[in-house]
Amino acid sequence: MVKLEELVQYAKTNGFIYQGSEIYGGLANTWDYGPLGSLLKNNIKSAWIAKFQKETKENVLLDSSILLNTDVWKASGHLGNFSDPLTECRSCNQRFRADNLIEQFDKTNADGWSNEKMYQYILSNKIPCPSCGAHDFLPIRSFNMMFQTYQGVVMDSANQIYLRPETAQGIFINFKNILRTSRKKIPFGVCQVGKSFRNEITPGNFVFRTREFEQMELEFFCKPGTEKKWFNYWREKMVSFLTSLGIKNENLSLYDHPKEALSHYSNATTDIHFKFPWGFDELWGIASRTDFDLKAHQTQSKESMEYLDPETNERYIPYVVEPSVGVERLVLSFLLNGLEMEKLDSGEDRQVLHIHPRLAPYKVAVLPLVKKEHANYANDLYLELAKTFDCIYDETQNIGKRYRRQDSIGTYLCITVDHQTLIDDTVTVRNRDSMEQIRAHVGDLKRIIEETMIF
Ligand code: GAP
Repeated sequence: MVKLEELVQYAKTNGFIYQGSEIYGGLANTWDYGPLGSLLKNNIKSAWIAKFQKETKENVLLDSSILLNTDVWKASGHLGNFSDPLTECRSCNQRFRADNLIEQFDKTNADGWSNEKMYQYILSNKIPCPSCGAHDFLPIRSFNMMFQTYQGVVMDSANQIYLRPETAQGIFINFKNILRTSRKKIPFGVCQVGKSFRNEITPGNFVFRTREFEQMELEFFCKPGTEKKWFNYWREKMVSFLTSLGIKNENLSLYDHPKEALSHYSNATTDIHFKFPWGFDELWGIASRTDFDLKAHQTQSKESMEYLDPETNERYIPYVVEPSVGVERLVLSFLLNGLEMEKLDSGEDRQVLHIHPRLAPYKVAVLPLVKKEHANYANDLYLELAKTFDCIYDETQNIGKRYRRQDSIGTYLCITVDHQTLIDDTVTVRNRDSMEQIRAHVGDLKRIIEETMIF
């Protein structure tokens, strides 16, 4: 696997990911997705929607606001509890997450520990400041990670609101709306893709942990007592989503949270870890959240969140199973998983992004062999294919260089228009991975491309 610095460089030079606000010296830990990065992100989102919503007849889509009534965050517990344990080195004034300090020191998992317990652990184990080596940390305090802003012209506490730190709550507060308008019966799920914001104390590792990111969350509502079955069902779906899109098994591992470390609302949680350059780390989480969220919103809003089963006449507050993933962590994983430097039989090096055609920024490159003779035909072919697929047209440099360029950005098929094409409407179709070439009729191209995109 490539090193993180190499990936950052690759992502920048090929137009996947740029430093945010670069011409002004940058804004720390913000990233802009360039021409290829935005295509990749869109493809990841559309693949997730295909598998988790479209191909699952129980599930529907939602697009709720980023700004929500502050009572939502009171009910969900984010206003009170959505915090990280913050400590500061008195000697160099650097700030750290206390649980990270402990984990980096001796791999102890401090999830669920009180601030006092973490502080005592740091003192008794003489954990040094990673920045200056001193042993002089301030007591730990809880730092709320929600971004605050104001709605309207008066910047007072009455107008203070928050950017959502997860998309999930927008789903819970619309549970009754969706139930009424979509005529769904339990079990059913609601999928949402959208931006979330967290004022992380220690963002980093490129786009792994940022303060602004996109989440893809499914809240699956089911009858109490059936949640374990659905938890296993969605957990398997998550793994098969990743592997069917080419993530290698050796790059994945599952971490079941031990009972004593579960959040107060959860009766089961599993994280799918990906092998990032710094080690296995969380890519995707699934939590069985019981009826915690709907109950909390029922109490806060005084709106009933009960479901009446039309067949059995039973009334209950549904349980929820929630798979939740960050789009950027998937971007990072698919790039790390696929980027390779190959040695060819000729001794040449070939950089290839082995990414599933469904996710590849471009499915097809249309290349006229000789610009003067074949460009008109190739241009028309490009325009026709571009109605259905993400395509790129390239007529500069020799054909070998053009193939290499497309390999390195993951373009799955290169279609070359040559002298023979003008005679019989056939083209050369070259496969990125095998580098094999076949001759195909232009009338078959759509079918050939479509077949590669199935996953
Ligand atoms: N609603 C549940 C929830 O938000 P989470 O474990 O806090 O759970 C879910 O977040 C996923 O969102 C993570 O597994 C990760 O993929 C992504 N994520 C969370 N914080 C992130 C951050 N600061 N930067 C990028 N991705 C993040």
